[in-house]
Amino acid sequence: MPFDLVPGLEEVPIAESSVSFVDGTAGKLEYRGINVELLAANSTFEEVCFLLLFGKLPTRAELEEFQGELVHYRKVKYRIIDLLKCLPEKGHPMDALQAAVAAIGMFYPRRRALDDSARRAACLRIIAKIPTVVAAFERLSKGDDSFTPRTDLNLAGDFLYMMTGEEPDAEKVRILEVCLILHADHTMNASTFAGRVVGSTLADPYCVVSSALGALSGPLHGGANEEAIEMFKRVGKPENTRAVLQEMLAKKEKIPGFGHRVYKTVDPRSKILKVYAEKLTQRSGSPYYQIAVEIERLMQEQVGHKGVWPNVDFYSGIVYRELGIPTDCFTPVFAMARAPGWLAHWLEQLRNNRIFRPTQRYVGTHDQPYTPIDTRT
Ligand code: ACO
Repeated sequence: MPFDLVPGLEEVPIAESSVSFVDGTAGKLEYRGINVELLAANSTFEEVCFLLLFGKLPTRAELEEFQGELVHYRKVKYRIIDLLKCLPEKGHPMDALQAAVAAIGMFYPRRRALDDSARRAACLRIIAKIPTVVAAFERLSKGDDSFTPRTDLNLAGDFLYMMTGEEPDAEKVRILEVCLILHADHTMNASTFAGRVVGSTLADPYCVVSSALGALSGPLHGGANEEAIEMFKRVGKPENTRAVLQEMLAKKEKIPGFGHRVYKTVDPRSKILKVYAEKLTQRSGSPYYQIAVEIERLMQEQVGHKGVWPNVDFYSGIVYRELGIPTDCFTPVFAMARAPGWLAHWLEQLRNNRIFRPTQRYVGTHDQPYTPIDTRT
């Protein structure tokens, strides 16, 4: 046996990548070498998409062209809207999104995934259409008509418009945009790895993103932001925090929004989201921020020594809720943000591709007899 079995592939490199970098001890995240805090303060989501996909910040002309293309691709075929109408209205929007992204691929020539010019179009199409699908499923599942995307708003603003039909508030648009920037990539996480595995088979990018969506939906990954809000709901009032947390820890439950395979300090994204969560809840009067801060304090006291700190999913749900985004759309919003990251990794994978085919340690039996069905017990 040449290698030891490493459960969860912890610290096992599976590719060389220049898309993003995490220093889990210093609490640092970079996209293409640029600190995410700088990007959150200065950049737009569209610019970050360009940076991740093409490896450099765009010139003004490049950005204008790129933004124009993204706007062009926003609409989805009416058959995709029909597909969404056919799905169970109580179904999870992540499942609807996964189905829709796979189905969108059926409208475009899949085998051209290896053709350079088709790759750019496919990446932009996926990034641009995900918000339209998420907003459409949300409205349709409530019995309302979906809205056609607008061409005069940025991606974040258009998403908020399509969710409500109302003119989006500029401050909320910027806050959502920062959330999207913060979630746009995060090295070799579970969903990115899932996408790279599928990409390595030369499957098309729609399959790549739909498989990554499946991985992101799990509560140990992107689904944790929804679970964190459910926990705040369960706590209800700040004074109940200790009792609920103790009960969860006593049952050995994982506290959603805490812990990370790589960060052994506070996730830098969570620090930025915490500031927005405080600002927005001060205005709305929601107790969730106070509850979250108390959970953070108690967690530090009790499990801080294990390197368990708030991750990106701890405060993001509070921010999304204040932006008017329903709880079951939190993970789809994460997916909207992560699509450029998945696709940047897909492009990178194809540049130096070898199909993923790891091995296993077989622990089953050998040379068993075949027992006829009537004599089996
Ligand atoms: N609450 C309480 N204790 C925790 C938590 C938590 N959220 N996370 C880790 N720990 C403890 C574990 O119980 C374990 O303690 P032990 O050594 O005494 O057994 C120790 O910290 C190490 O934890 P592991 O589960 O081994 O860490 P791993 O790297 O395998 O898992 C994960 C990381 C999945 C993120 C885990 O921390 C977790 O389940 N967190 C809750 C879900 C969550 O927030 N996921 C979002 C992650 S960020 C993202 O995907 C966008």
